[in-house]
Amino acid sequence: MKKEVSLTGIKPSGTIHIGNYFGAVKPALELTQNYESRYFIADYHALNTIKDAKLLQQLIYEVAATWLAFGLNTDEVLFYRQSKVIETFELATFLSAFTPKGFMNRAHAYKAASSLNIQEGKEVDEGINMGLYTYPVLMAADILLFNTNVVPVGKDQKQHIEIAADIGQIINHKYNKDLFVIPKPLIREETETIIGLDGRKMSKSYDNVIPLFSTSKNLRKTVMKIVTNSQSVEEPKDPSTCYIFSLYKLFSTKEEQDKLKERYLAGGMGWGHAKEELFNAIDRFLTPYREKYNDLMNNKDYIDQKLNEGAEKAKEIAAQTMSRLRQIVGIN
Ligand code: TRP
Repeated sequence: MKKEVSLTGIKPSGTIHIGNYFGAVKPALELTQNYESRYFIADYHALNTIKDAKLLQQLIYEVAATWLAFGLNTDEVLFYRQSKVIETFELATFLSAFTPKGFMNRAHAYKAASSLNIQEGKEVDEGINMGLYTYPVLMAADILLFNTNVVPVGKDQKQHIEIAADIGQIINHKYNKDLFVIPKPLIREETETIIGLDGRKMSKSYDNVIPLFSTSKNLRKTVMKIVTNSQSVEEPKDPSTCYIFSLYKLFSTKEEQDKLKERYLAGGMGWGHAKEELFNAIDRFLTPYREKYNDLMNNKDYIDQKLNEGAEKAKEIAAQTMSRLRQIVGIN
């Protein structure tokens, strides 16, 4: 049986952290077994917010190296940069002709930014660029270009997939043809929220993240910053409410967890000791990937080559979609 197509975009807008790994990278890599997978780096989406050329370049390589280091196999997964498949931008223009402007007004990201402006007594669209406003159209182009059946994303992106589906349907209906495969969101239910250094959800915007790839030494420093209460070394401690323990669970076996749990409950173990255990567990997990990651970051030509090969293959599919579409609307 032919596998369904799964496609997702990765926006290179920040250094990848442990929350991203468990929330996005790992589940997406697991999906590649059951789907024909197409994963791309959404670099033009990142340009909306990142106007520092060096930083953007760096983040693009970091994202690519991360996914490759964790085992993305480019023989099986189509892996490319959005910017290299220029048909994406032709399709975005095409879709714009059919997209009700109201869809954009209702899109969460724009609504959030514009209502914040109003709240702060500013002009409604202050600081909002057209890239942010029409973000859902470019995203719909990413998706509809590749005959996508499912789009694995976090729930914050659900509305974007629904907009893409609606735009596709409007056009299918207008020309009375199945021009586009109508995509469905594949929402990752967060089985577990990954806790950050301060006990809130790990997120770049809270500045509480543990980056995946730093040196062991810096990783240790970061782990030592986890916020704890003022219980003394002697006091018994409760693992079930402890941020350190909740992170430790992600990187340890059941036996290791039981052992540490005992030490918590027995008393005589300080927070510093618990952090040391956590650091060791994370470091043990990351070390082999860190080596691959560093090798890749030292060999950007290799990354470019892989991404360019991916783009070539992606462009073949994209060119077919576009030539079919142009004909249908009378632009050929
Ligand atoms: N908007 C997505 C995010 O912020 C990234 C993205 C761009 C995307 N294009 C996509 C995701 C197409 C899925 C499909 O995470």
